[in-house]
Amino acid sequence: MLTWDDYNQEDSVAATAAPEPAVVAAAAAAQEVVTAPEPAASQPASAEPSPEAMQAAEAVIANMDASAGVKELEMGASRVSVDEKAMINCRADLNQLVPFKYDWAWQKYLDGCANHWMPQEINMTADVATWKSSDGLSEDERRIVMRSLGYFSTADSLVANNLVLGIYRLVTNPECRQYLLRQAFEEAIHTHAYQYCIESLGMDEGEVFNMYREVPSVAKKAAWSISHTHELSDPNFSTGTIEADQQLLRNLIGFYGVTEGIFFYCGFTQILSMGRRNKMTGVAEQFQYILRDESMHLNFGIDVINQIKLENPHLWTEKFKEEVSQMILEGTALEIEYARDTMPRGVLGMNAAMMEEYLHFIANRRLTQLGLSEQFPGAQNPFPWMSEIMDLRKEKNFFETRVIEYQTGGALSWD
Ligand SMILES: [Fe+2]
Ligand SMILES: [Fe+2]
Repeated sequence: MLTWDDYNQEDSVAATAAPEPAVVAAAAAAQEVVTAPEPAASQPASAEPSPEAMQAAEAVIANMDASAGVKELEMGASRVSVDEKAMINCRADLNQLVPFKYDWAWQKYLDGCANHWMPQEINMTADVATWKSSDGLSEDERRIVMRSLGYFSTADSLVANNLVLGIYRLVTNPECRQYLLRQAFEEAIHTHAYQYCIESLGMDEGEVFNMYREVPSVAKKAAWSISHTHELSDPNFSTGTIEADQQLLRNLIGFYGVTEGIFFYCGFTQILSMGRRNKMTGVAEQFQYILRDESMHLNFGIDVINQIKLENPHLWTEKFKEEVSQMILEGTALEIEYARDTMPRGVLGMNAAMMEEYLHFIANRRLTQLGLSEQFPGAQNPFPWMSEIMDLRKEKNFFETRVIEYQTGGALSWD
């Protein structure tokens, strides 16, 4: 098992500092002649640049006025105004963060940074003891832990890859891109957190990381997400037509609304319910931090989608709205199937029927967030404590192990 202390030791100065004198003496005695190592043959010897190379460099600088880079800079072009900025198909300079048009995007970037956390900060000792003892968890509870780590360990990589290889290029707003970069790093932290749990508990890594290709209820969710990323990850894909702009919206709804907005909810609820019962509290705490990040990703994505709709009302046709409602229904059905697969019987004070009700409630929420009609009238939330966890801010966290919100570094003071 890896603990916070192990990481500190590995990374500490002490671990890489000069060895004790006695160790040096012993090493010298064992080695009769100590010579400096010969440089490797592939290592180039340092030399002055040739006159030709210097001349070539000077020629490039002399001709820079005509270079592609200078032309792209549009030297002397008028300064960026807020009115020129747009969520997609924007022609204003994307290298200038300000003036802000979407203050909410910048605020979410700041909030994300203020909530920074790392997986190694969470103590996994009790979880290891529970996981390794023969009577720590029931078979059904063990199945939930395995399935959750199986689904999430690859799902966050799918999300991160879609962000950086698909969405980032096509969202043409610097403050939103700033948040996308923050989100991409958070997805890396989430994948790290799952890997950290898997390694700490001594699970078979191959089994867990391959679950999205081997277990049907996990594979179907992953396949659904992947089916919405194909076109965008094509380097030749670009927005600017109704069809292409709607394709970008489909991707955003598929990833923010369904993958992060529905597919994460059964697993999160199950693991957090386990934590509430004082079982696998380290894993549950990791999931709690991730859930808090994810609720911010979801809210950001919904804001981006609604802003694109506002700026491009011609994209939000009746036919397209029907298609989006259908996507939410598909996502809900897949998550219900996952709930039935992971809970063949009642477990942790819940069962598949309760989860179905919860997912109907969540689906209604996603639909109304997107300005669409609810599809499951009257659906109630059987797990109100989930909302409390997502809304927690300054309070101690759910399992009372540490204060949830901390600011990294703190503000610099110059006086
Ligand atoms: Fe994530
Ligand atoms: Fe996310």
